[in-house]
Amino acid sequence: RTRVLTGITTTGTPHLGNYVGAIRPALRMAQAVDVDAFFFLADYHALIKCDDPERIARSRLEIAATWLACGLDWQRVTFYRQSDIPEIPELTWLLTCVTAKGLMNRAHAYKAAVDANAAQGEDADAGVTLGLYSYPVLMAADILMFGAQRVPVGRDQVQHIEMARDIAQRFNHLYGAGKDLLTLPAAVVDEDVATLPGLDGRKMSKSYDNTIPLFAGGPRALEDAIARIVTDSRRPGEPKDPDSNALCAIYRAFATRAQGDAYAADLRAGLAWGEAKQRLATQIEDEIGPMRARYDRLTVESNQIEEILQEGAAKARTLAAPLLARLRQAIGLRAPQ
Ligand code: TYM
Repeated sequence: RTRVLTGITTTGTPHLGNYVGAIRPALRMAQAVDVDAFFFLADYHALIKCDDPERIARSRLEIAATWLACGLDWQRVTFYRQSDIPEIPELTWLLTCVTAKGLMNRAHAYKAAVDANAAQGEDADAGVTLGLYSYPVLMAADILMFGAQRVPVGRDQVQHIEMARDIAQRFNHLYGAGKDLLTLPAAVVDEDVATLPGLDGRKMSKSYDNTIPLFAGGPRALEDAIARIVTDSRRPGEPKDPDSNALCAIYRAFATRAQGDAYAADLRAGLAWGEAKQRLATQIEDEIGPMRARYDRLTVESNQIEEILQEGAAKARTLAAPLLARLRQAIGLRAPQ
Protein backbone atom coordinates (compact mmCIF):
# COMPACT_ATOMS: atom_id res chain seq x y z
CA ARG A 1 0.00 0.00 0.00
CA THR A 2 1.08 3.56 -0.63
CA ARG A 3 1.13 6.18 2.08
CA VAL A 4 0.15 9.70 1.03
CA LEU A 5 0.47 12.65 3.42
CA THR A 6 0.05 16.39 3.33
CA GLY A 7 -0.60 19.31 5.68
CA ILE A 8 -1.65 22.95 5.66
CA THR A 9 -0.34 25.63 8.01
CA THR A 10 -3.08 27.12 10.18
CA THR A 11 -2.30 30.80 9.82
CA GLY A 12 -5.21 32.04 7.75
CA THR A 13 -8.21 31.31 5.63
CA PRO A 14 -7.69 28.67 2.93
CA HIS A 15 -7.35 30.14 -0.56
CA LEU A 16 -7.67 28.83 -4.11
CA GLY A 17 -3.91 28.05 -4.22
CA ASN A 18 -4.20 25.68 -1.24
CA TYR A 19 -7.18 24.03 -2.88
CA VAL A 20 -5.78 23.39 -6.35
CA GLY A 21 -2.17 22.84 -5.22
CA ALA A 22 -2.76 20.52 -2.29
CA ILE A 23 -6.30 19.76 -1.12
CA ARG A 24 -7.84 18.70 -4.43
CA PRO A 25 -4.95 16.50 -5.64
CA ALA A 26 -4.52 15.00 -2.16
CA LEU A 27 -8.18 14.04 -1.91
CA ARG A 28 -8.08 12.53 -5.40
CA MET A 29 -5.07 10.44 -4.48
CA ALA A 30 -6.81 9.30 -1.28
CA GLN A 31 -9.60 7.75 -3.31
CA ALA A 32 -7.39 4.99 -4.71
CA VAL A 33 -8.08 1.66 -3.03
CA ASP A 34 -4.43 0.95 -2.27
CA VAL A 35 -3.67 4.30 -0.60
CA ASP A 36 -3.50 5.11 3.10
CA ALA A 37 -3.80 8.86 3.44
CA PHE A 38 -2.72 11.19 6.26
CA PHE A 39 -3.98 14.77 6.21
CA PHE A 40 -3.26 17.19 9.00
CA LEU A 41 -3.38 20.74 10.30
CA ALA A 42 0.16 22.08 10.69
CA ASP A 43 -0.56 24.16 13.77
CA TYR A 44 2.96 23.99 15.21
CA HIS A 45 4.18 25.43 11.92
CA ALA A 46 1.65 28.23 12.30
CA LEU A 47 3.43 29.50 15.42
CA ILE A 48 6.47 30.34 13.30
CA LYS A 49 4.62 33.02 11.38
CA CYS A 50 1.85 34.10 13.70
CA ASP A 51 1.69 35.15 17.35
CA ASP A 52 -2.01 35.92 17.42
CA PRO A 53 -3.72 33.17 19.46
CA GLU A 54 -7.23 34.01 18.22
CA ARG A 55 -6.15 33.83 14.63
CA ILE A 56 -4.46 30.45 15.12
CA ALA A 57 -7.53 29.05 16.86
CA ARG A 58 -9.88 30.34 14.17
CA SER A 59 -7.66 29.10 11.36
CA ARG A 60 -7.45 25.60 12.82
CA LEU A 61 -11.21 25.38 12.73
CA GLU A 62 -11.49 26.87 9.23
CA ILE A 63 -8.89 24.60 7.74
CA ALA A 64 -10.37 21.51 9.37
CA ALA A 65 -13.81 22.47 8.05
CA THR A 66 -12.30 23.09 4.62
CA TRP A 67 -10.81 19.60 4.37
CA LEU A 68 -14.08 18.02 5.42
CA ALA A 69 -16.17 20.22 3.13
CA CYS A 70 -13.95 19.33 0.18
CA GLY A 71 -14.79 15.68 0.71
CA LEU A 72 -12.25 14.27 3.15
CA ASP A 73 -13.66 11.00 4.47
CA TRP A 74 -12.38 11.02 8.04
CA GLN A 75 -13.27 7.39 8.61
CA ARG A 76 -11.07 6.28 5.73
CA VAL A 77 -8.11 8.63 6.05
CA THR A 78 -6.19 9.66 9.14
CA PHE A 79 -7.04 13.30 9.84
CA TYR A 80 -5.43 15.08 12.80
CA ARG A 81 -3.72 18.13 14.21
CA GLN A 82 0.07 18.14 14.38
CA SER A 83 -0.03 19.50 17.94
CA ASP A 84 -2.07 16.51 19.14
CA ILE A 85 0.77 14.14 18.28
CA PRO A 86 3.54 14.51 20.91
CA GLU A 87 5.68 12.03 18.96
CA ILE A 88 6.16 14.67 16.24
CA PRO A 89 8.15 17.19 18.29
CA GLU A 90 10.06 14.30 19.81
CA LEU A 91 11.03 13.04 16.38
CA THR A 92 11.87 16.61 15.41
CA TRP A 93 14.59 16.65 18.05
CA LEU A 94 16.05 13.32 16.94
CA LEU A 95 16.20 14.66 13.39
CA THR A 96 17.56 18.04 14.48
CA CYS A 97 20.59 16.23 15.87
CA VAL A 98 21.48 14.69 12.50
CA THR A 99 20.64 17.71 10.33
CA ALA A 100 23.52 19.80 9.04
CA LYS A 101 23.20 23.50 9.77
CA GLY A 102 24.37 24.13 6.21
CA LEU A 103 21.26 22.37 4.88
CA MET A 104 19.03 24.76 6.81
CA ASN A 105 21.03 27.76 5.53
CA ARG A 106 19.74 26.87 2.07
CA ALA A 107 16.02 26.70 2.97
CA HIS A 108 13.92 29.15 0.91
CA ALA A 109 11.94 30.67 3.77
CA TYR A 110 15.08 31.44 5.76
CA LYS A 111 16.95 32.73 2.72
CA ALA A 112 14.04 34.99 1.82
CA ALA A 113 14.17 36.52 5.31
CA VAL A 114 17.93 37.03 5.07
CA ASP A 115 17.62 38.62 1.62
CA ALA A 116 14.84 40.94 2.79
CA ASN A 117 17.02 42.01 5.72
CA ALA A 118 19.98 42.64 3.40
CA ALA A 119 17.81 44.76 1.10
CA GLN A 120 16.93 46.96 4.07
CA GLY A 121 20.47 47.13 5.39
CA GLU A 122 19.54 45.10 8.46
CA ASP A 123 21.51 42.44 10.28
CA ALA A 124 21.17 39.19 8.26
CA ASP A 125 19.30 37.32 10.98
CA ALA A 126 17.16 40.18 12.26
CA GLY A 127 13.76 38.85 13.24
CA VAL A 128 14.66 35.26 12.35
CA THR A 129 13.62 32.80 15.06
CA LEU A 130 15.05 29.32 15.45
CA GLY A 131 11.55 28.15 14.56
CA LEU A 132 11.77 29.73 11.13
CA TYR A 133 15.32 28.54 10.68
CA SER A 134 14.62 24.91 11.44
CA TYR A 135 11.12 24.84 9.94
CA PRO A 136 12.14 22.11 7.45
CA VAL A 137 13.13 19.75 10.29
CA LEU A 138 9.66 19.92 11.83
CA MET A 139 8.22 19.33 8.39
CA ALA A 140 10.54 16.33 7.90
CA ALA A 141 9.23 14.91 11.18
CA ASP A 142 5.63 15.33 9.97
CA ILE A 143 6.41 13.31 6.89
CA LEU A 144 8.78 10.68 8.28
CA MET A 145 6.63 9.99 11.36
CA PHE A 146 4.06 8.22 9.16
CA GLY A 147 6.34 6.68 6.57
CA ALA A 148 4.84 8.82 3.81
CA GLN A 149 5.99 7.84 0.34
CA ARG A 150 4.11 10.48 -1.61
CA VAL A 151 3.49 14.07 -0.55
CA PRO A 152 1.12 16.10 -2.77
CA VAL A 153 2.07 19.80 -2.56
CA GLY A 154 2.45 22.97 -4.60
CA ARG A 155 5.87 23.73 -6.04
CA ASP A 156 6.89 26.01 -3.15
CA GLN A 157 7.11 22.99 -0.84
CA VAL A 158 9.25 20.73 -3.01
CA GLN A 159 12.53 21.84 -1.48
CA HIS A 160 11.25 20.94 2.00
CA ILE A 161 10.38 17.43 0.90
CA GLU A 162 13.80 17.00 -0.65
CA MET A 163 15.29 18.07 2.66
CA ALA A 164 13.12 15.53 4.48
CA ARG A 165 14.56 12.92 2.16
CA ASP A 166 18.14 14.04 2.87
CA ILE A 167 17.53 14.00 6.59
CA ALA A 168 15.96 10.53 6.45
CA GLN A 169 18.89 9.22 4.44
CA ARG A 170 21.34 10.59 6.95
CA PHE A 171 19.40 9.06 9.84
CA ASN A 172 19.22 5.68 8.12
CA HIS A 173 22.92 5.82 7.34
CA LEU A 174 23.85 6.57 10.94
CA TYR A 175 21.45 4.26 12.74
CA GLY A 176 19.81 1.88 10.29
CA ALA A 177 22.55 -0.76 10.35
CA GLY A 178 21.76 -1.53 6.73
CA LYS A 179 18.00 -1.26 7.13
CA ASP A 180 15.75 1.69 6.39
CA LEU A 181 14.39 2.95 9.68
CA LEU A 182 12.77 5.89 7.91
CA THR A 183 10.96 5.81 4.55
CA LEU A 184 12.20 8.23 1.88
CA PRO A 185 9.38 10.53 0.71
CA ALA A 186 8.84 12.09 -2.72
CA ALA A 187 6.90 15.24 -3.63
CA VAL A 188 3.97 14.89 -6.02
CA VAL A 189 3.34 18.12 -7.89
CA ASP A 190 0.51 18.62 -10.34
CA GLU A 191 2.42 20.56 -12.98
CA ASP A 192 -0.69 22.30 -14.33
CA VAL A 193 -1.38 24.08 -11.07
CA ALA A 194 1.98 23.85 -9.32
CA THR A 195 1.97 27.59 -8.67
CA LEU A 196 -1.40 29.26 -8.93
CA PRO A 197 -0.98 33.02 -9.41
CA GLY A 198 -2.76 35.51 -7.17
CA LEU A 199 -4.43 38.87 -7.84
CA ASP A 200 -1.18 40.57 -8.87
CA GLY A 201 0.20 37.66 -10.92
CA ARG A 202 2.74 36.59 -8.29
CA LYS A 203 2.27 33.24 -6.51
CA MET A 204 -0.99 33.30 -4.60
CA SER A 205 0.16 33.52 -1.01
CA LYS A 206 -0.97 34.70 2.39
CA SER A 207 2.34 36.54 2.71
CA TYR A 208 1.72 38.59 -0.47
CA ASP A 209 -1.83 39.45 0.51
CA ASN A 210 -2.98 38.56 -3.00
CA THR A 211 -5.20 35.58 -2.29
CA ILE A 212 -8.69 34.64 -3.39
CA PRO A 213 -10.52 32.96 -0.51
CA LEU A 214 -11.85 29.49 -1.18
CA PHE A 215 -15.05 29.68 0.89
CA ALA A 216 -14.87 32.65 3.22
CA GLY A 217 -17.35 35.44 2.55
CA GLY A 218 -19.52 33.47 0.14
CA PRO A 219 -19.92 33.87 -3.63
CA ARG A 220 -19.90 37.67 -3.29
CA ALA A 221 -16.42 37.67 -1.73
CA LEU A 222 -15.26 35.38 -4.53
CA GLU A 223 -16.60 37.78 -7.16
CA ASP A 224 -15.16 40.81 -5.38
CA ALA A 225 -11.72 39.20 -5.19
CA ILE A 226 -11.84 38.21 -8.85
CA ALA A 227 -12.81 41.78 -9.75
CA ARG A 228 -9.50 42.85 -8.18
CA ILE A 229 -7.36 40.63 -10.45
CA VAL A 230 -4.99 43.05 -12.12
CA THR A 231 -5.50 43.38 -15.91
CA ASP A 232 -4.39 45.95 -18.47
CA SER A 233 -6.56 48.72 -19.90
CA ARG A 234 -7.51 47.07 -23.19
CA ARG A 235 -11.11 47.81 -24.05
CA PRO A 236 -13.91 45.39 -24.94
CA GLY A 237 -13.38 44.19 -28.51
CA GLU A 238 -9.62 44.77 -28.45
CA PRO A 239 -7.53 41.57 -28.68
CA LYS A 240 -6.01 40.58 -25.33
CA ASP A 241 -3.03 38.50 -24.29
CA PRO A 242 -4.49 35.70 -22.15
CA ASP A 243 -1.14 35.18 -20.42
CA SER A 244 -0.64 38.79 -19.37
CA ASN A 245 -2.40 38.27 -16.01
CA ALA A 246 -3.71 35.60 -13.64
CA LEU A 247 -7.19 35.14 -15.14
CA CYS A 248 -6.45 32.39 -17.59
CA ALA A 249 -4.20 30.37 -15.28
CA ILE A 250 -6.87 30.39 -12.59
CA TYR A 251 -9.60 29.55 -15.10
CA ARG A 252 -7.60 26.58 -16.36
CA ALA A 253 -7.25 25.25 -12.81
CA PHE A 254 -11.04 24.85 -12.71
CA ALA A 255 -11.72 23.79 -16.28
CA THR A 256 -11.06 21.08 -18.83
CA ARG A 257 -8.27 21.71 -21.31
CA ALA A 258 -10.80 22.45 -24.06
CA GLN A 259 -12.66 24.94 -21.88
CA GLY A 260 -9.38 26.67 -21.00
CA ASP A 261 -8.37 26.89 -24.65
CA ALA A 262 -11.76 28.36 -25.57
CA TYR A 263 -11.43 30.95 -22.79
CA ALA A 264 -7.98 32.00 -24.03
CA ALA A 265 -9.24 32.15 -27.62
CA ASP A 266 -12.16 34.37 -26.58
CA LEU A 267 -9.75 36.78 -24.85
CA ARG A 268 -7.58 36.92 -27.97
CA ALA A 269 -10.75 37.66 -29.94
CA GLY A 270 -11.60 40.64 -27.75
CA LEU A 271 -13.70 39.36 -24.80
CA ALA A 272 -14.04 42.21 -22.26
CA TRP A 273 -12.09 41.82 -19.02
CA GLY A 274 -15.28 42.31 -17.02
CA GLU A 275 -17.02 39.52 -18.88
CA ALA A 276 -13.95 37.28 -18.55
CA LYS A 277 -13.98 37.82 -14.80
CA GLN A 278 -17.66 36.99 -14.62
CA ARG A 279 -17.06 33.74 -16.49
CA LEU A 280 -14.18 32.88 -14.19
CA ALA A 281 -16.32 33.44 -11.09
CA THR A 282 -19.06 31.18 -12.46
CA GLN A 283 -16.60 28.48 -13.40
CA ILE A 284 -15.10 28.38 -9.90
CA GLU A 285 -18.44 28.65 -8.16
CA ASP A 286 -19.78 25.63 -10.08
CA GLU A 287 -17.07 23.50 -8.52
CA ILE A 288 -16.88 24.92 -5.02
CA GLY A 289 -20.43 26.15 -4.39
CA PRO A 290 -21.74 22.81 -3.06
CA MET A 291 -18.65 22.46 -0.88
CA ARG A 292 -19.18 25.93 0.57
CA ALA A 293 -22.63 24.95 1.76
CA ARG A 294 -21.04 22.07 3.71
CA TYR A 295 -18.30 24.39 4.96
CA ASP A 296 -20.80 26.87 6.37
CA ARG A 297 -22.59 24.08 8.21
CA LEU A 298 -19.36 22.60 9.55
CA THR A 299 -17.88 25.81 10.94
CA VAL A 300 -20.79 26.13 13.32
CA GLU A 301 -20.46 22.49 14.39
CA SER A 302 -17.06 22.87 16.00
CA ASN A 303 -17.79 20.14 18.57
CA GLN A 304 -18.16 17.61 15.82
CA ILE A 305 -14.89 18.72 14.23
CA GLU A 306 -13.15 18.44 17.58
CA GLU A 307 -14.36 14.85 17.99
CA ILE A 308 -13.20 13.92 14.51
CA LEU A 309 -9.76 15.39 15.15
CA GLN A 310 -9.41 13.67 18.53
CA GLU A 311 -10.27 10.35 16.96
CA GLY A 312 -7.80 11.06 14.17
CA ALA A 313 -5.04 11.85 16.66
CA ALA A 314 -5.64 8.59 18.51
CA LYS A 315 -5.44 6.68 15.23
CA ALA A 316 -2.28 8.52 14.17
CA ARG A 317 -0.58 7.83 17.48
CA THR A 318 -1.08 4.07 17.15
CA LEU A 319 1.38 4.34 14.26
CA ALA A 320 3.62 7.10 15.60
CA ALA A 321 4.33 5.58 19.00
CA PRO A 322 5.77 2.24 17.79
CA LEU A 323 7.94 3.93 15.16
CA LEU A 324 9.31 6.34 17.72
CA ALA A 325 10.02 3.44 20.09
CA ARG A 326 11.99 1.70 17.32
CA LEU A 327 13.97 4.86 16.62
CA ARG A 328 14.76 5.41 20.30
CA GLN A 329 16.00 1.86 20.50
CA ALA A 330 18.17 2.31 17.41
CA ILE A 331 19.86 5.48 18.63
CA GLY A 332 20.65 4.12 22.08
CA LEU A 333 17.82 5.56 24.16
CA ARG A 334 16.97 2.00 25.05
CA ALA A 335 14.18 0.69 27.15
CA PRO A 336 15.47 -1.47 30.01
CA GLN A 337 15.56 -5.18 29.05
P1 TYM B 1 1.00 26.13 3.22
O1 TYM B 1 0.06 26.15 4.36
O2 TYM B 1 1.72 27.37 2.88
O3 TYM B 1 0.23 25.66 1.93
C1 TYM B 1 -0.56 24.47 1.91
C2 TYM B 1 -0.45 23.81 0.56
O4 TYM B 1 -0.94 24.68 -0.47
C3 TYM B 1 0.03 24.79 -1.50
N1 TYM B 1 -0.03 26.12 -2.09
C4 TYM B 1 -0.09 26.35 -3.40
N2 TYM B 1 -0.16 25.52 -4.46
C5 TYM B 1 -0.24 26.08 -5.69
N3 TYM B 1 -0.27 27.43 -5.90
C6 TYM B 1 -0.22 28.29 -4.88
N4 TYM B 1 -0.26 29.60 -5.08
C7 TYM B 1 -0.12 27.76 -3.55
N5 TYM B 1 -0.05 28.32 -2.30
C8 TYM B 1 0.01 27.30 -1.43
C9 TYM B 1 1.38 24.55 -0.80
O5 TYM B 1 2.37 24.17 -1.72
C10 TYM B 1 1.02 23.47 0.16
O6 TYM B 1 1.06 22.20 -0.46
N6 TYM B 1 4.95 23.79 5.23
C11 TYM B 1 3.67 23.58 4.59
C12 TYM B 1 2.71 22.79 5.45
C13 TYM B 1 3.28 21.50 5.92
C14 TYM B 1 3.39 20.30 5.14
C15 TYM B 1 3.98 19.35 6.02
C16 TYM B 1 3.07 19.96 3.84
C17 TYM B 1 3.77 21.24 7.16
N7 TYM B 1 4.20 19.94 7.22
C18 TYM B 1 4.26 18.03 5.58
C19 TYM B 1 3.33 18.64 3.42
C20 TYM B 1 3.92 17.71 4.28
C21 TYM B 1 3.04 24.94 4.31
O7 TYM B 1 3.34 25.94 4.95
O8 TYM B 1 2.05 24.94 3.37
